[in-house]
Amino acid sequence: MRTFALIALFIFSGVLAAFVFGFDLKDTVQPLEYDDEQEGLEDQVVIKFSHVTSEHTPKGLAARKFAELVEARTNGTISVEIYANGSLYNDQDEQQALKENRVQMIAPATSKLTSQFPKFQILDLPYAFSSYKEVRKAYEGSIGRTLLAELHTSEMKGMGFWYNGFKQMTSRTKALLHPADFEQMHFRRMPSPVIERQFQALDASTSLLPFNKTYQNLNVEFIQGQENTTSNIYTKKMYETQDHLTVSNHGYLGYIVLTNETFWKNLSPEQQKIIESSLADTTDWIRRHSIETNDAHLRELKRTESISIHYLDKEQQEIWRHALEPVYIETEKFTGRELIQELNQIKDQ
Ligand code: LMR
Repeated sequence: MRTFALIALFIFSGVLAAFVFGFDLKDTVQPLEYDDEQEGLEDQVVIKFSHVTSEHTPKGLAARKFAELVEARTNGTISVEIYANGSLYNDQDEQQALKENRVQMIAPATSKLTSQFPKFQILDLPYAFSSYKEVRKAYEGSIGRTLLAELHTSEMKGMGFWYNGFKQMTSRTKALLHPADFEQMHFRRMPSPVIERQFQALDASTSLLPFNKTYQNLNVEFIQGQENTTSNIYTKKMYETQDHLTVSNHGYLGYIVLTNETFWKNLSPEQQKIIESSLADTTDWIRRHSIETNDAHLRELKRTESISIHYLDKEQQEIWRHALEPVYIETEKFTGRELIQELNQIKDQ
């Protein structure tokens, strides 16, 4: 009888402990589903991918696609967390955050690397490219390889280039159809000396402002105009503060996908291979879809009726081109003659 009471007391205290401390008695007797060879949660790699544009832009959509591919191809053992709209880091701090491995991937506009890596200025030259084919040749050819190699001294590893689209000019009050229309106007620009020279050649002044501060500064009229792709103009609602958009196609805005070098080296060769193949497939996708997205957003801009869209005729295009030629001479000092020659070869092909 005493023995029975002791056994009952033992069982009762076990059940009580399970209630109080939250033990699940079932777990102690269930066989483990996976053996030790299987990857557990502690083996999961998390890639924090930070970027500054909306989720509906070419970059936002590509980041999502890349995340889906990586997660599917690694059965979820690598997960990609996306922070869009500068919700984690912005233009000014995302490169530093990457170098310190606070995020593992970013995709800034190539213009945003020009101060640290002056050769990147080649991609910002006005009228550097007159077709998507030429942009692709630069990114995938020797210009792209030279630029990726430039990063070797940094904590950032260049993984490849992503596409957005050709830049268009927007302005308040007057339409920009002739270089003289830029005189005395104040524009937002990205941190690229070429872009600063481009506006100087048009007798306009500029302020260097982060992407996510552009709308506000247009709204309070600190700046009167800016240049960007139609997807960025539409998704950032810049049409609310701008009366005119000139389809100038005077420059190309694309991205460099970067990862943290040490983070990369610590991945297994299999993990690296999956990330590289997912990135290659995403790059192929964004190359085609960025064109559609920008076209669709131009159509949306036309539909808003709050911004007038202007097209330059052949003669006007030639006048713009001619006005911006001096930018090449200045830029050669930073890029070297060889890169400019390679750019010219792409145009001749
Ligand atoms: C900008 O600053 O205008 C762009 O670089 C934003 C982006 O990432 O497309």
